[in-house]
Amino acid sequence: MATILTLAGDGIGPEIMTQAVDVLNAVNNKFELGLTLESGLIGGVAFDATGEPLPEETLERARAADAVLLGAVGGPKWDAIERSKRPERGLLKIRSELGLFANLRVAKLYPQLVNASSIKPEIISGLDLLIVRELTGGIYFGEPRGIRTLENGEQQGYNTMVYSTSEIQRIGKVAFELAKTRAQAAGRPAKVCSIDKANVLEVTELWKQTMIEIQQADYNDVALSHMYADNACMQLIKDPKQFDVMVTGNMFGDILSDEAAMLTGSIGMLPSASLDEAGKGMYEPCHGSAPDIAGQDKANPLATILSVAMMLRYTFKKEEAAQAIEQAVSDVLDDGLRTIDILDRSETGLKQVGCQEMGQAVLAKLVQ
Ligand code: NAD
Ligand code: IPM
Ligand code: MN
Repeated sequence: MATILTLAGDGIGPEIMTQAVDVLNAVNNKFELGLTLESGLIGGVAFDATGEPLPEETLERARAADAVLLGAVGGPKWDAIERSKRPERGLLKIRSELGLFANLRVAKLYPQLVNASSIKPEIISGLDLLIVRELTGGIYFGEPRGIRTLENGEQQGYNTMVYSTSEIQRIGKVAFELAKTRAQAAGRPAKVCSIDKANVLEVTELWKQTMIEIQQADYNDVALSHMYADNACMQLIKDPKQFDVMVTGNMFGDILSDEAAMLTGSIGMLPSASLDEAGKGMYEPCHGSAPDIAGQDKANPLATILSVAMMLRYTFKKEEAAQAIEQAVSDVLDDGLRTIDILDRSETGLKQVGCQEMGQAVLAKLVQ
């Protein structure tokens, strides 16, 4: 009997989580997966209830669970509280404490949404790229960090971007392995593009050099290329299909994945998996708590629902159940259902729906 801890969090978190849990329960029954669901607190709601954005109890239950499903954290209500208590710190801490160093963010365009993106259809049709983002290191966690007062009385903020060889090696291996698996499935050669700023930052000079060494030692069958992060942002818009697997550090990966999300129509479509060395994972949409639409039944639940599919695939090795969810999502898009973020107003035959109606439509496809 496996256990999943659900952490809905803040803003639209509870709305999208309700839909994802309904879908998860449906596949659990249909495929007799034997999964047990529990829920816990993280983020601003956890701070309000306990004074901590990641209560010890939540962390212990996350360690004990076989997988974690997270909604989103943060919001204006908690933006002014002491830095160490902010909701986002809870998220960073759970990633770090669970050792979830490999964040997989899949930007796959559902063909039904080719007109929902702000990019021309011919540039994005058939898009399927994977961003492998290092998640527990880099500038997000480097020390020293803080805000200090200089001798002249001025304040100075500072962070430190650090990567050790072993941290780069382990994320590099994940990227090369996934590139091989994806290439095999698609019947084409494997390729990885490593994103850095090796022209400016020593830390990414080491990143680039280490990627080259791993490829030469163990992955001669994978083509490795390199690109500076600024150019990569531009190339993602110009010709995103040139990429298959992009591997990069924590901050560049954060930025590039929001950009890649828009290639799929909306940030509301991008799921993610965050894995540790044993393959245990936390699954979450790439978007945030969307305070501007929270509580209005407007949020797109599909990124969270697709994160459930990733959970079944990566942690539970239930490929059939994972594909059933992805197919159900495709089916509701075929039926013309659209939350407002993926609604193309020039297209006829579409129906604007809310978060709940979208989630329940996916559920209906699974149980029919
Ligand atoms: P955001 O992703 O929450 O929202 C950006 C824009 O995208 C907003 O206009 C929002 O309405 C829209 N959007 C996001 N998700 C959507 C969905 N599922 N359906 C439809 N539209 C959606 O980013 P932000 O506004 O920069 O941040 C808001 C808060 O969320 C902040 O507190 C931030 O720290 C936090 N955040 C949390 C996570 C996380 O929990 N993983 C990720 C990013 C941001
Ligand atoms: C994400 C978010 C987080 C990050 C924040 C909320 C800590 O933007 O998951 O992409 O920067 O990693
Ligand atoms: Mn982000």
